[in-house]
Amino acid sequence: MKTTIITVDRNLDNIKNYEQAVDILKSGGVVAFPTETVYGLGAIATDEKAVDKIFKAKGRPSDNPLIVHIGNKDEVAQYATEIPEKAHKLMDAFWPGPLTLIFNAIPNIIAENVTPGVKTVGIRMPDHPVALDLLRALKAPLAAPSANRSGKPSPTEAFHVKEDLDGLIPLILDGGPTGVGLESTVIDMTVQPPVILRPGGATREMIEEVIGFVAVADEKAPENTPRAPGMKYRHYAPEAPLYIIESDKEKIEHAVKMLQKEHKKTAVIGPDSLRVSNADWYFAIGSSDSTEEMAVNLYKALRQCDLIDADIILAVETDLVGVGAAFMNRLEKASEGKRFI
Ligand code: TXA
Ligand code: MG
Repeated sequence: MKTTIITVDRNLDNIKNYEQAVDILKSGGVVAFPTETVYGLGAIATDEKAVDKIFKAKGRPSDNPLIVHIGNKDEVAQYATEIPEKAHKLMDAFWPGPLTLIFNAIPNIIAENVTPGVKTVGIRMPDHPVALDLLRALKAPLAAPSANRSGKPSPTEAFHVKEDLDGLIPLILDGGPTGVGLESTVIDMTVQPPVILRPGGATREMIEEVIGFVAVADEKAPENTPRAPGMKYRHYAPEAPLYIIESDKEKIEHAVKMLQKEHKKTAVIGPDSLRVSNADWYFAIGSSDSTEEMAVNLYKALRQCDLIDADIILAVETDLVGVGAAFMNRLEKASEGKRFI
C-alpha cells in the first residue's frame, strides 16, 4: 500500500481538503490526522472491520481500548448512558481539549473492538482545526489511538507517522507539529471521586479547580485497581536503554564520564540550561522553567535517539507539578522505572 501525505492548511476552512480522507474512512479504511496532543490513527468507531485495521497497522494488543473522538460536545449523549454533573463541568471547561472522559457505554453502538473487555467508553473532543474539520465533514465518531507502532513514542509530526506506518496506511493528513506533545489526560467519570487513569495535557490541578478532589490511579498497585488498560504495556521507548537522572549538572557530567569509561556512547535529553559538554549528544528540549515546552519536544527527542548509535540515554527528570506529572509518567514508562544513581 502506498502512503500519501497531504498538507492541510490549518487556516483554510475548506471541505475539499478532507474529501479524500472522508472517502477512505467511509469505505472502511484508516487515516492518520493531527490533534493538539499527538497524531491519531482514525477509523469510524462504529465500523468493526475498519477498527480492526488500526490494531493491525499499529501491532496493538487487542485488549487495549481506543478513545472515541467527536466533533461536537452533544454527541456524547449518543454513546454514554449517563453524563454526571461533574462530567458536564469538565466538558464545558476543557473541550475541545486534551481530556478524555470515561463513561458507561450504551451497548451495541460503538464497535465492540473499540472497547475490548470493558463496558465503558472513553470520549474526547480534540482541539485541533484539522481534527475538528475532519470529524465534522465525516459526521461520524473516530476511534483513534496515537498513530505510532505500538510501544514507540507517539508521533508529534506527520513524518513520525510515516516513519512508523509507511506502507501500512493509505493517508496521513499533515497539520504540522502538535501543540501539547503528550497524550490526553484520561479520567474515569464512572466512579466517585473520579480517577485520573493517565496523566496528560489537562493537569490534575486544572481539573480539581473545576470539580474538586480527584484520585490518581496508582500504577504500582495490584491488578484489580482501576487504571487504563494501556498503561500496563512498555511504551514510549527508544531502542537504547533509558535511565532517568536527577536535574543536576555535576551529577550528569559525572554520569557521562563514568559511562564513557565503560566505552558507552551517551545521549542526554534535558533542559536547555543543563547542556553538558561531555555528552556524545545532548537533546535540549526547552526551558527548565517550562515543563509544557519540554513536553512538546520529548517524543521527538526520544525518536531522534533511534537515529543515532547511542548505547545509553539519560533523561533529566522534572518536578511533578502540572504537566510534569504526565512528563514523568512517560519517562517512567520509557525507562521501565530505571534511574541512574
Ligand atoms: O491524546 C490522545 O489521547 C491521543 C490522541 C490521538 O487523541 N490518543 C491516545 O490514544 O493516546 P491511545 O490509544 O494511544 O491511548 C488511549 C489510552 C490507553 O491507555 C487506553 O487503555 C485508555 O486510554 N482507555 C481508552 N478507553 C478506555 C476505557 N474505556 N477505559 C479505560 N481506559 C481506556
Ligand atoms: Mg498510544
